[in-house]
This record gives sequence, C-alpha cells and structure tokens, in this order.
Amino acid sequence: MGLFDKEKIISYLSIEDKIKLTEIEIFPTIESTNQYLLEKNSLSGQVCIAEQQTQGRGRRGKTWLSPPTGNLYFSVAWRFQKKLNHPWGCLGLIAGLSVAQVIESLIHQPVKIKWPNDILIGEEKIAGILVESNLSADDLTVVIGIGLNILLPQEYRQIISYPVTDLESFKSSFCEHNQLVAKLIHILFANLTLFAQIGFETFHDQWLRYAKYINQPVKLLNDKTEMCGKMVGIAKDGALLLEQDGIITPVYSGEFSLRPQL
Ligand code: BTN
Repeated sequence: MGLFDKEKIISYLSIEDKIKLTEIEIFPTIESTNQYLLEKNSLSGQVCIAEQQTQGRGRRGKTWLSPPTGNLYFSVAWRFQKKLNHPWGCLGLIAGLSVAQVIESLIHQPVKIKWPNDILIGEEKIAGILVESNLSADDLTVVIGIGLNILLPQEYRQIISYPVTDLESFKSSFCEHNQLVAKLIHILFANLTLFAQIGFETFHDQWLRYAKYINQPVKLLNDKTEMCGKMVGIAKDGALLLEQDGIITPVYSGEFSLRPQL
C-alpha cells in the first residue's frame, strides 16, 4: 500500500480547489512527474504524484535523487494565457513561497528560501523546485515540480553533496501525507490564481520575509562565471538584486546558483 491516496487527498480539498483540479494521478514509480505532465500536454490543474522517480530532474540539468517510498515527488500543470503581462520568471519564486508556507504550517521552525527556490531549514535543504514550460500558439503551460523530503534514508543523505533534512526530523507536528499534499495543492492553486490576476507584486514582500542571505555577501555561480556581491533584494520580476561596488544589477535565475560568501 502506497503513501498517497487520491480519494483521501480530494477529501481534504475545498470546493474551489476541486473546481480548479482537473485530475490527480498517482504512480508507484515513474521516470519523472515533470516529464510526464509535459509530454501529456496537460490541462491546467492536472497533478501527478509519484512514490519513486527513476529519472528525477533537478535544476541546472542535475539529477534529483528519488529513493522509493518516503518522499513526495509532485508536479502540477498550470496554463496561462500568453498575452498575460506578468514575467514568467517569477513562477519559481511563487512556487517556492507556496512550499515554504506549507512546511512552515507543519513544523515549528523558521523556513527559508534560498533564491530562486531551494527550501531550507537552517542550512539544510528540505525541498527543491523545477519549473519547466511548453509554449503553444495560444497558451503557456507551465509544469511546476516539487521534490519534498519527508523521510530521506540515511544512505541517501550521504550521497547528496549538500546538507539535507526531511519532515520526519520535525515529527512532533508533521501531519498525514495526504493532508500535506492537499495543503500544497490548496496554497499553490490560490497563489497561482492570484499571480495570473495581479502579478508578482503582491508576493514580493512575503517572499523577502523568507529570503535566506538577504543583505549578506553572496556568490552567484554558473558553469562559466562567478559573481560576488551583496544580495540587496529581489526585483518585481523576480530577479535577484546584486550590489557590487555600489552598483545594483538584476540577475535572472536561469542557470545561477546562490551561495553565501564565507
Ligand atoms: C532542484 O534541483 O532543487 C529541483 C528539484 C525538483 C525535483 C522535482 S521532484 C518532482 C518533479 N519531477 C522531476 O523530475 N523533478 C521535480
């Protein structure tokens, strides 16, 4: 018997959530929940959950290690009209904010977001987000993939090259798995709907409250370059604002990774 149950998840949703939800599919194993929804040309509000991924995808072309049973591998498709005027780059930040809000409601610990969307407790990563998209003639379909560590076996923690944690480590307040998925669907649907209506501005200040390394010296790395400076904020379009010698430059998330400058 798997961890996730479709009927139970649906039973925790509100009427508005149920209207926006097109379908939930739950797989014991799949290559990648993101890939599945992208290939399927999904409708808005389509959710795919897996108990294991054999080719889990991470940001910047990395692999997302996905051990069997214990963690959540979740993707949702959302369609926006192309003519909508908001910068799409913000979607990863909104997804990160949504995941941080869900985790914070479950554990009595401060949750932080490392730009653009790594979810940390202290210095340890508990969830990662990968946003991918399909552009058709009329619409933009975005697939938001979330990997959330619920119970990460010790042997996997040793393989992962950065510090990690899981929800079970904060057991005292952790809720049931299906209720957790329902909370995630509820907050994501509400935030994505609001974003389509009024854009990122309404989330800007909330996001900053979760920001790890804000007003601290940071390094921004990709395969070719390294930029050092102070993270002084995020722009209305989701870019990180990096101050170097008194000049503030917007940096877009695409291929960059953020580190503290030690
Ligand atoms: C990261 O590198 O931090 C992003 C990880 C995103 C992993 C999730 S798990 C569900 C979805 N399917 C995938 O193949 N990747 C995302």
